[in-house]
Amino acid sequence: MITSLILALLVIIALAVYFYIRRNKSPFGDVTKYVKPSKTFSLSVTDRQGDLHKINQNPNDTSLLSALQNDPDIKARSSCKNAHCGACIAELNEGSVSYFQEGSFPIEGNEILPCSCTIDSDSKITLLARVPRRKKPK
Ligand code: FES
Repeated sequence: MITSLILALLVIIALAVYFYIRRNKSPFGDVTKYVKPSKTFSLSVTDRQGDLHKINQNPNDTSLLSALQNDPDIKARSSCKNAHCGACIAELNEGSVSYFQEGSFPIEGNEILPCSCTIDSDSKITLLARVPRRKKPK
């Protein structure tokens, strides 16, 4: 009898943890912010003047923006560094990115916010000339 009660209690706890994790992604907070690039990827960057740069994003870069800002020839614009202002906005032309934090600036299509993501593969991006004017979601 006691064994059945303990077993039932364990099942209930396991279900509660399962649904909590599904709803909140992780009971330990946003673990994605600790995700760093695991290896070096090459990146082709077209800057706002139309010049092409070839750089690498390596595991020491905390974000795609930091990889861009490590190259003095690339004038990567930024402000909030939290995906809220859109100052760093770029277009992903090839490859893929992973976001490690969510912000409030709405992106569309293949736009990315380099301050809040890292690339997952060799990629091509274009830095956008201006920050699109958009209404932020309430
Ligand atoms: S620096 Fe503000 S959104 Fe990237």
